Amino acid sequence: MKPRDHSRLLKELTKEYARRFPESNRLHQRAKQSLIDGGSHSLRLIDPFPPRIREARGPRITDEDGHSILDFWQGHHANILGHNPAVITEVLRDAFAAGQSLQTGFVEQLHSETAEILCRQTGMQRVRFTTSGSLATMYAILMARAYTGRDRVMKVGGGWHGAQPWGLVGIEYHNGKNHFQFSDTDGLPVAIEQEVVVTRFNDTQMLADHFRRYGSELACFILEPFIGASGGIPADREYLQTARNLSEKHGTILIFDEVIAGFRFHAGILGQLYGVQPDLVTLAKLIGGGMPLAAVAGRQEILELASHSGHVRFSGGTYSGHPACLLASKTMLSYLSENQKSVYPYIGDLAARIRETVEKAFANVGIYARCTGTGGGTLPGSSISTVVFPYDPEHLCKGPEETLNPHVCDVQLANRILQLALLLEDVHVMHGLGSICTAHSEADIGVVEEAYGRAAQRIKASL
Ligand SMILES: Cc1ncc(COP(=O)(O)O)c(C=O)c1O
Repeated sequence: MKPRDHSRLLKELTKEYARRFPESNRLHQRAKQSLIDGGSHSLRLIDPFPPRIREARGPRITDEDGHSILDFWQGHHANILGHNPAVITEVLRDAFAAGQSLQTGFVEQLHSETAEILCRQTGMQRVRFTTSGSLATMYAILMARAYTGRDRVMKVGGGWHGAQPWGLVGIEYHNGKNHFQFSDTDGLPVAIEQEVVVTRFNDTQMLADHFRRYGSELACFILEPFIGASGGIPADREYLQTARNLSEKHGTILIFDEVIAGFRFHAGILGQLYGVQPDLVTLAKLIGGGMPLAAVAGRQEILELASHSGHVRFSGGTYSGHPACLLASKTMLSYLSENQKSVYPYIGDLAARIRETVEKAFANVGIYARCTGTGGGTLPGSSISTVVFPYDPEHLCKGPEETLNPHVCDVQLANRILQLALLLEDVHVMHGLGSICTAHSEADIGVVEEAYGRAAQRIKASL
């Protein structure tokens, strides 16, 4: 299918947006004088400029123009309890008042207390903390390469593991034959580009073929059991089981990147719900309780490569295991473990109703839209979703080869047009929707109905 042309609508939306957010626009022009593109994270730098935030509370953010915006991005999926939840901020406030330190350069008891919860809840033997999901996946891959003595790293096309060397291959969809077998950055050593083998998400046959061809050279297979940035799609159970079996057979380390999924579906990792334990798992986002904390957890004999007697430099990091981050993390992990019976069904049910409302808003104007996030035959209520617009409603869209292919799905409509159209309705989404948190409520369904309804009508009128 030839991609739809939305240039006229985009121009119209951009103009109206600039009119409605003048202060954000002004601040953005100023920001560009000192910051590249006016910020430090490209996804946040919405074109033509992002709303500049003054305050964030629960389900909403307030921008510098005074709009109160219902937020479904929720800190890149980090805020499962909403923005600035008292559960975390009050603990931090009290701790600082009682002498809790910022950086100490020592090891606090908080370190092992947080690690104990993580190991208990994930079923992993050991954990080491770092500061970002990107570093966690990089260290996990380093350990896998050292442990196996092999070079090749297999990943899924469209899988985002952060901006680290092996993660920078096979991210973006390229038209042509091998859609994802490319480096997506300049400056990457050629050897790394050549080491990365890209396979298809949820394609068991291709996985078997790749293991047959590269199995003896593969240090690791890293994948998200719930692929986030490129579709919000859960892996099929059979796919993960095959990945586990083939990794074992070929002596390859299986790494689940659960930077998004960890503690999102229950107080543990997604692998447990599938009955498939990886050798290593990477965690970040919501395990930090809104603070920069990440972790690699897994089999003791692999993590011991990072020990004094091992030879993997999963080490350093001035702010690794930062005391305030550990306190936020321990508080969040304890809260989720103790309240999982109420937290997860609540956000799962609310998300199901929001998905239904979004799909209906588009169906009402004759546009087929599908909210992702469910399926896989395993997941309990999923609180994460993107919106895809397959040209053919029969198309299943089981992975990034479809969700990111502009000839299969209307990618521009999902990622760009809808975001701007909804900001004009005081709703903020990423990739069409985002994640539902405990601070969202029944009342937000009505907001969604109206906002998506108006956005859908505007889009329909332009087609
Ligand atoms: C699955 C996955 N892995 C890794 C990362 C990188 O994490 P960070 O942004 O904390 O470096 C992300 C970030 O969005 C992610 O979604």
